[in-house]
Amino acid sequence: MATTVSSKPQTICPPNEALLLAAAELRAHELPPDHPSRLVQREPYFTSQLGAAYCGDSLEMLQALPSGSVNLVVTSPPYALHFKKAYGNENKDRYVQWFLPFAKEILRVLKDDGSFVLNIGGSYNKGTPTRSIYHFKLLIALVEEIGFHLAQECFWYNPAKMPVPAEWVTVRRIRVRDSVEYVWWLSKTPHPKASNLNVLKEYSEDMIRLNRNGVRGTVRPSGHVIRDSFDKIHAGGSIPPNVTEADFDFPEAMMKMGNNAANDLYTKRCKEEGIKIHPARFPALLPKFFTKLLTNPNDLVIDPFAGSLTAAAVAEELDRRWIAGEAIEEYLKAGTFRFQESLQNPTLF
Ligand SMILES: C[S@@+](CC[C@H](N)C(=O)[O-])C[C@H]1O[C@@H](n2cnc3c(N)ncnc32)[C@H](O)[C@@H]1O
Repeated sequence: MATTVSSKPQTICPPNEALLLAAAELRAHELPPDHPSRLVQREPYFTSQLGAAYCGDSLEMLQALPSGSVNLVVTSPPYALHFKKAYGNENKDRYVQWFLPFAKEILRVLKDDGSFVLNIGGSYNKGTPTRSIYHFKLLIALVEEIGFHLAQECFWYNPAKMPVPAEWVTVRRIRVRDSVEYVWWLSKTPHPKASNLNVLKEYSEDMIRLNRNGVRGTVRPSGHVIRDSFDKIHAGGSIPPNVTEADFDFPEAMMKMGNNAANDLYTKRCKEEGIKIHPARFPALLPKFFTKLLTNPNDLVIDPFAGSLTAAAVAEELDRRWIAGEAIEEYLKAGTFRFQESLQNPTLF
C-alpha cells in the first residue's frame, strides 16, 4: 500500500470495465432521478439506495460536482501526524498547501446555506514536547484565504485516544493525555441552515430536580440574570454543548464517544472476511450529530475522505442522500459491509 497520499493518490480501482458498464446501464434505469450518482459524470464504485461511493482522488470527484449542489460536507482527512498511518499523511509544513485545493472545491459545491464540518486532530512537533499549530493555521487559511465563515469551533472528546507520545506522557510524565480532537464547523455564508432542536439531549437529573424544586430569580456574579422561569423544562430536551459526547439518546452510544467500537457490523464483517479494519475511523456519533444538526431528510451530504464510509452509512440511516470519495479500494470494499441491506449491486463484490 502507498505510504504517502498526495492530492494524486495511488489507487487500485475495480478492473472489470465490462462488468462496470453493464452495472452502470442497469442502474441508470433503476435509480431515481435525484440519485446523487447522477451528479457525478464518473462510474461509482458502488451505489446504495441513497448514495454513491467513488474510488480515486476526491479532488477530481469534487471537481466533477456541480456548484451549489451540496448541503453538508462532513469529513476527516488524514491529519499531519508524526507517526504516519498506512494510508499516508502529509507533513505539517505542507499541510495547508495540500488541503487548500480540496477546500476551494468544497466551498464551490456547497449551497449558500451549506456547512463544512472538518474533524482534525492535533499533533506533536518532532523530538520536543511541544504541539504543532498546523490545524490552527489551516483554520485561519480556510477563513481568510478561501472565504469560509467559522460557525463554531467544536470538540470531540475521545477517551479512547492512546497516551502518546509515550516519551512525554507515560515515560517522562511531563504531558497529560490528549483526549480531544477539533471539529471546525465552517459555513459558506454567516447563516448556514442549522437547528439545535434536532440534537437535543435528555435533561440531566440535576435539571429535572431544579425544575421540580424551582429556582429563585437572581443575578450571578458574572452579571447573568437568572429568571425564575430558567428552570422550566420545555422544548423537549436541553441544548447540547460544543463538545460532542455520546450521552445523548442514541442506542449505540458508549459511555463516552470513543472510536474503538468492537462489536459493530463493520468490525465483525471485516474480521470474518479477514479484511483490515480502517485504522482511523471516526465514531458514527460524530457525523450523526452534525448531519442531524445541519441537514434535513433528502439533503445531500458528502465525505471526500470517506475511509470506511462511516459518514455515508449515517447519512443513509438518516434518509439523507450521500456521495463519498476514497482513494484506497480496500477501505471502500470493507465499507460496503455497512450497507449490506441497501446495496444495489452486491454482485460487484
Ligand atoms: C482519517 S481517514 C477517514 C476515516 C473515516 N472518517 C472513517 O470513519 O472511516 C482519511 C481517509 O482519506 C483517504 N484519502 C487521503 N487522500 C485522499 C484523496 N486525495 N482522495 C480520496 N481519499 C483520500 C485515506 O485513504 C483515508 O482512508
